[in-house]
Amino acid sequence: MTATTTSATTAHAAEGERGPFVVGIGGTLRAGSSTERALRDCLAAVRRRGGRTALFSGEDINLPMYNPHDTHRTAAALALVEALRAADAVVIGSPGYHGGVSGLVKNALDYVEDLRGDATVYLDNKPWGCISCAFGWQAAVGTLGQLRVIGHALRAWPTPLGVAINSAEPVWDAEGVLVDETTSTQLDLLAAQLLSFVPAGGSPR
Ligand SMILES: Cc1cc2nc3c(=O)[nH]c(=O)nc-3n(C[C@H](O)[C@H](O)[C@H](O)COP(=O)(O)O)c2cc1C
Repeated sequence: MTATTTSATTAHAAEGERGPFVVGIGGTLRAGSSTERALRDCLAAVRRRGGRTALFSGEDINLPMYNPHDTHRTAAALALVEALRAADAVVIGSPGYHGGVSGLVKNALDYVEDLRGDATVYLDNKPWGCISCAFGWQAAVGTLGQLRVIGHALRAWPTPLGVAINSAEPVWDAEGVLVDETTSTQLDLLAAQLLSFVPAGGSPR
């Protein structure tokens, strides 16, 4: 995981509270990724509201192509799967690449297959927040729809609000601070919905 994020294991213990555990996945391999920034801003809103978080972005999800027929898993892949197993809710962020979800993000999501044999199959009943970033509304909105469909396939519950971001607009300043009020409000509302849809007592394990 990137330096400023908390690992799944430490996230439980570190903050010591029993708030819902929200796992963020996504971003791109580009330094200063807007998708990663949006995920970070959303997870910060989760923490402000009492949740615990972990983020898997950039190199954290630069995983070998998922192979269901090879049970060897890298340490990074195991960390991702373990965090998803422990998650009460998930927020996923993808860029729009050629009109859709990037290969990097989709490959990371394919590792959810490793939860197939769990008592909680895949992400059964877990809230699923979606964020997309593209250099125009068409790919941003189209990609958001794809993320929702993937969430359904993984048995998760896409939140009513998804956040599509047009990264051609000045959403963050040069220092990476979120300056667009609408995006800020939406990411905060997404955090609120993720937390409020977690079943009492946490998601099933
Ligand atoms: C391979 C590739 C394909 C892309 N395809 C599209 C596209 O179809 N439509 C679009 O609006 N932007 C497209 N973009 C632009 C990205 O969606 C946009 O720059 C986005 O903000 C990238 O996310 P990032 O800032 O997290 O790196 C593409 C970028 C790359 C590198």
